[in-house]
Amino acid sequence: MVLAEELAKQQRSISVAEFFEKNKHLLGFDSPTRGVITTIKEAVDNALDACEEAQVLPDIYISIKKTGTDVFRIIVEDNGPGIVPAQVPFVFGKLLYGSRFHQIRQTRGQQGIGISAAVLYAQLTSGLPTVVISRTGAKEPAHRFEIQIKIETNEPDIISQQPFEWDRIHGTRVQIEFKSTMSAKKKLLEYLKYTSVVNPHARFRVELDDESFTFERVSQEVIACPLAIQPHPHGIEFGQLKRMAAASDEKLIDFLVNGFSRVGKKIAQEMCDKSGLKQTAKVKGLSAEELKNLLAAMQSVAVPAPPTTQCLSPIGEDLIRRGLDKEFQMDFVSARAGSRPRVTQRSSGLQTGSRSCTSRVPVQSPNVSQPSTGSRTTSPSRASRWGRF
Ligand SMILES: Nc1ncnc2c1ncn2[C@@H]1O[C@H](COP(=O)(O)OP(=O)(O)O)[C@@H](O)[C@H]1O
Ligand SMILES: [Mg+2]
Repeated sequence: MVLAEELAKQQRSISVAEFFEKNKHLLGFDSPTRGVITTIKEAVDNALDACEEAQVLPDIYISIKKTGTDVFRIIVEDNGPGIVPAQVPFVFGKLLYGSRFHQIRQTRGQQGIGISAAVLYAQLTSGLPTVVISRTGAKEPAHRFEIQIKIETNEPDIISQQPFEWDRIHGTRVQIEFKSTMSAKKKLLEYLKYTSVVNPHARFRVELDDESFTFERVSQEVIACPLAIQPHPHGIEFGQLKRMAAASDEKLIDFLVNGFSRVGKKIAQEMCDKSGLKQTAKVKGLSAEELKNLLAAMQSVAVPAPPTTQCLSPIGEDLIRRGLDKEFQMDFVSARAGSRPRVTQRSSGLQTGSRSCTSRVPVQSPNVSQPSTGSRTTSPSRASRWGRF
């Protein structure tokens, strides 16, 4: 067919950056107004995650300034561990690049697409590169980068890179400029307020044009960083098992014990028996049929629930109460944490008072994405059954 030949000439692969340049609404950049909130949320999430990983109390500085008719400069600076210079271009100049995607544990960001999406939006609307300054310790110099994304290849484009005199010993500063408006100023301050409520161990200093605000910390307790866990045998799918098996040099019994949550020798033996496979068989050599039998056995044997206390970081009743107390003048503040976690754990707080008649359920990262355009977090208010209160 002539048409098929013609179509064949037009076939080509699409880079992730090209895809998101056309579909930026999927990442929360569907309007200039929302762009500001999304960018600040992504940068603040990264700052909080980084401080948690480094076990330091977060000191986060946020600045939003108008630099042109409709161009705004956003700066977010943290006192986290910093990013090694070799990684900076990839973190900010490549979509789908990050350290958390392959770990099973609670983090604010996961897909490695948050901050690089803001870099993409900036280069699309203002044409300006993102400026990053980062330092990893007293003995290391800080480095300053100007970064963009090569859209056709989704690779970083380093416009400039040089050592930099910086008074911070460790941390990261991101400066992003794009076309925007400040019509969502109230929403932005609301987002920061709720972020502060659910992160009472963090201090946020905010400069918004000529105004400045501080959301003080009320807890000096460093949040323990959740530890990654192995996949649970009841939550795994065939393709995933096949990939794990292909990458393993272990015997079946060791593969089950070492590769999965809550599987000890006894449970692993039971799985081997049920699947009809030898404990000493090399998993790499198992056929698709044998892996299907193994999966069925893994899912039919009773296995204790995953170790949620290790991989999740619920806020807890006391901190929710203190967070609410500091930001709202309430007559009554109470909190309640879910008592019997299975796979996830949720904490909720309830407030009432004369100054406000709203009720909110804080989660560690308030929802700011739009459900109709590909929400990436669940709305906390929809997730709770208020009848219980
Ligand atoms: N402020 C920061 N301090 C230290 N590391 C950071 C910071 N911001 C981003 N990173 C690193 O860059 C990676 C990519 O960030 P991002 O694109 O926002 O993806 P995600 O947060 O979903 O992992 C993160 O996984 C983290 O390892
Ligand atoms: Mg992120």
